[in-house]
Amino acid sequence: MPRISVLPSAVADQIAAGEVVERPASVVKELVENALDAGATSVDVAIDEGGRARIRVSDDGNGMDRDDAVLALSRHATSKITRASDLVGIHSFGFRGEALPAICSVSHLEIDTAPADGAGTRIAASGGAVVSVADVARRRGTTVTVSSLFYNAPARLKFMRGARSEWRAIVEALTLVALARRDVRLTVAHDGAPALTLPPASSWRARVAALWGTATAERLLDVDDVAGPIRAEGLAERPQDVGTGTRRIFLAVNGRAIRDPGLVRAAEAAYRSTISAGLRPTLLLALTLPGGDVDVNVHPAKAEVRFRDRWTVERAVEGAVRRALGTLDAAAAIGARRWWSAPGDQPLPDAAVGVEALRAPENAGDGPLFDPAHDLPGTSSAAVALPTSVVAAPGEAEPVMVPPLTQWRRTYISFEHEQGLVLIDQHSAHERVLFERFMGVLERGEAPAQRLLFPITLHLGPAESEAFDANRESLERLGFEVEGFGGHTLIVRAVPMPHPRFDPERCLRDTLDALTGDRVASTAARHEKLAATVACKAAIKAGEALSPDEMRALFVALARTTLPAHDVHGRATIVRVGWDELERRFGRR
Ligand SMILES: Nc1ncnc2c1ncn2[C@@H]1O[C@H](COP(=O)(O)OP(=O)(O)OP(=O)(O)O)[C@@H](O)[C@H]1O
Ligand SMILES: [Mg+2]
Repeated sequence: MPRISVLPSAVADQIAAGEVVERPASVVKELVENALDAGATSVDVAIDEGGRARIRVSDDGNGMDRDDAVLALSRHATSKITRASDLVGIHSFGFRGEALPAICSVSHLEIDTAPADGAGTRIAASGGAVVSVADVARRRGTTVTVSSLFYNAPARLKFMRGARSEWRAIVEALTLVALARRDVRLTVAHDGAPALTLPPASSWRARVAALWGTATAERLLDVDDVAGPIRAEGLAERPQDVGTGTRRIFLAVNGRAIRDPGLVRAAEAAYRSTISAGLRPTLLLALTLPGGDVDVNVHPAKAEVRFRDRWTVERAVEGAVRRALGTLDAAAAIGARRWWSAPGDQPLPDAAVGVEALRAPENAGDGPLFDPAHDLPGTSSAAVALPTSVVAAPGEAEPVMVPPLTQWRRTYISFEHEQGLVLIDQHSAHERVLFERFMGVLERGEAPAQRLLFPITLHLGPAESEAFDANRESLERLGFEVEGFGGHTLIVRAVPMPHPRFDPERCLRDTLDALTGDRVASTAARHEKLAATVACKAAIKAGEALSPDEMRALFVALARTTLPAHDVHGRATIVRVGWDELERRFGRR
């Protein structure tokens, strides 16, 4: 008796279906993607019992004539590619000609469809076989109804979850589509009741507001950046808010929603030093890159892609998010309203969902926090000469306009900005400045040190001595010239001079104390830890009076950091109160 036999095609189809159709949500995804590929501008989805009983997707796309509609149910029948080379740079969601036959093989399926200028066709099929083909009156577009999913696939049926969890998975799948194609109108009903109505949205923010509410939309910063051939756009959570709400992740590559932990990690890396370790930000990012640089045909559900040069893509993502975090919009706000709207961000057409507060100010732009080119009201137009004794970074010439500054409680520095009142925490701000300076020094070069007239002698405990030995070279680069003197005694001959009131002895002691017992693996992580620690200990403290020159120098130095709005512990350096917010509070509007 032969041991090998070719499977009947119905069985083969069912096996193939297993890859494409895992649960009701995968059916919904495939049908909606087909609708979008057909050029639909409006898609209506109706679900019964979490998709276990019925899934219906109607679109206003191109429709099919009768021959095509029948053909669409056979395997490898597709209108989207004809040659393997068409896969390069493909713009449609589908390309395998597999989804409809796979769904059909495990359900009762009905297709009503009509092309723009032709008669309507209704096809009924069951378990992969066409049952009837008839005329039907309908306008252009297609409606696909899938009932009794897995009725003939007991193994699959057993694995379906309850209606509620299948419904949740469907909502997730539709959310991905809604974010990938915000230009399309999408409605969803569950058990006859409307569940979601998404009007076409002109911006990411508007679509997010329609999906999750205005409050969520306003927590997010615009990301829009181009690096070589790669464009990254979308929304990223303000560091201040990370960890306080539901975390959402969305990634798309050339319009296709994908999963990619590597890209998520790259985007998260941009938050380094702005949020506490372990917190995970909400990120919605869409990448556009040349079709030849991505392979979309690597995953059965098309949920992953392969990049020709992953490293470059990850760097582009990290850079894009990093730059978004460096903008004024990234600063902590009192009143939690956005200050800055991206150009072209016109939420009004999407007002159905109440995007009230997103009034874009005139000439709005996503500038860096202290934009030298930005005309600040009440600004002394003279560029500030940097007092070298204070916090000036040497060798950086670009002038920064400094508005009049006032110190409060010897702790905060305030200034007026076009969009509102801004407060800087002098310690956190200086910490950020020194952190970036020290990182620069650790990664390349040496800090200027000041020779002490009277060297300091330090007596250390064993743990501190060990911390000193482990970080000796880096500390020397930062400007500490230290000599071991046998046992646990150090002689400090030169120290960095970040500001005149700097107490080097205390700084070194506190730093070594903070570094004891530290087993940080990578050099980069060690540098970061050291730079953050020394910056914290060396920065001017709250309670220190600053001269006008010192305040100005701090302002300029902060303006030149890459992340001026965040200190190195995940706290704000800047808090802003929009004029809007003040007007609201004073009942002016
Ligand atoms: N809603 C629709 N409107 C118009 N044509 C459709 C629709 N759904 C399917 N089709 C046609 O049927 C064909 C087969 O669809 P199917 O989803 O099986 O394959 P595909 O989309 O080409 O590839 P994939 O298997 O990757 O999804 C499509 O290529 C398209 O021509
Ligand atoms: Mg398809």
